Amino acid sequence: MTNIAVLGYGTVGSGVVEVFFKHRDSLQKKAGQELDLKYILDVRDFPDSPYADRFTKNFEQIANDETVKVVAEVIGGLEPAFTFTKTCLENGKSVVTSNKELVAQKGAELLEIARKHHVNYLFEASVGGGIPIIRPLHMCLAANQIDEIAGILNGTTNFILTKMIRENMSFADALALAQKLGYAERNPAADVEGHDACRKICILASLSFGEHVYPKDVYTQGITDITLEDVAYAASCGYVIKLIGRAKRGADGGKISAMVTPAFIRHESQLGTVDDVFNGILVRGDATGDVVFYGKGAGKLPTASAVMGDIIECVKALDTSPSLRWNPSAGGNVAPREENVTAMYLRCRSDTVMLAQAAKKLFGEVQPLSREGQPADEYAFITPEKTEKELDAAIAKLAGMDVEILGKVRVLDY
Ligand code: HSE
Repeated sequence: MTNIAVLGYGTVGSGVVEVFFKHRDSLQKKAGQELDLKYILDVRDFPDSPYADRFTKNFEQIANDETVKVVAEVIGGLEPAFTFTKTCLENGKSVVTSNKELVAQKGAELLEIARKHHVNYLFEASVGGGIPIIRPLHMCLAANQIDEIAGILNGTTNFILTKMIRENMSFADALALAQKLGYAERNPAADVEGHDACRKICILASLSFGEHVYPKDVYTQGITDITLEDVAYAASCGYVIKLIGRAKRGADGGKISAMVTPAFIRHESQLGTVDDVFNGILVRGDATGDVVFYGKGAGKLPTASAVMGDIIECVKALDTSPSLRWNPSAGGNVAPREENVTAMYLRCRSDTVMLAQAAKKLFGEVQPLSREGQPADEYAFITPEKTEKELDAAIAKLAGMDVEILGKVRVLDY
């Protein structure tokens, strides 16, 4: 008999408990032994829960119970999750988690503690909700050098953008609906400002490139400035706006190129057709070429599915040496944004004849765009590819010509 504990009975934790008791028989067969979910840790009371006898508020009870071999940390945030995880690993318990913030900040450290204590620290649920991506990257694609990863990594913002694109829904209404459906973070700023996607691309980059990539080093921009006008211009030339997290291996051992940004991407591309709460992750391997993973990136049961899969993996791997790890790093291993090369969509207000001439002079051959209901003083265009340093300088010159920059979105080659 192997005992399991769940730390946190929020959206994901309650999903893990539900999945465990619903599929207990088949989970035991898959794990090859009897399983019990002995404790659920939460500061709140759940007297009416069918699992009321399993609740505890005392973490030490779990940490000191030697029969508990696997712990699911689904509290989220850095503390107390970090202390609880560290204690469990040091006490010889494997830990699985959906906590992307903790893995993105402390992954290398916790993986090293796990290795020292011959237990596992697994985090399939931290990226892509129910999509298997961590284990495929680590195991199935092990023969590859991973050169690039690009993904729609946040379900809430993809849901909001899809509502804006398809239903002309306002940003605020779409966000409220995403919160009601349980997709958004407790503080939805983490979703709409891109921090959640940043944590996820950091985890994927760390795993792919073998050393810790910290969120503070990755330029991150969310979707709060995206308007229905920008959405219309994107549609006019076959693009959709998506929040993209991307990371590219540096050439010849150089710095990694990584960023989270809203972007025009081609509607018919594999990532361009990923809508609603779905996530899509494109992995570019040197043997496989492009491999794309797709599925529900947020929500109670998809995320619980990934947590439960890791629990079974830990039970099966008890007393074996863990292999999932990456090297610690002092940070600073990501190239500055200014070195990034991209095309840019710009929407400007001023005299349009003057704007067309200025755009050509400053950026070269631009692609002018049009939309229904375009005001007489609005001019939108896509620049050729340039470094962001060059684009910044040209945009500053444009703004100095009495031009109001109304919209600015990167155009990516996906
Ligand atoms: N808030 C996150 C999202 C949850 O919307 O993708 C899953 O990590």
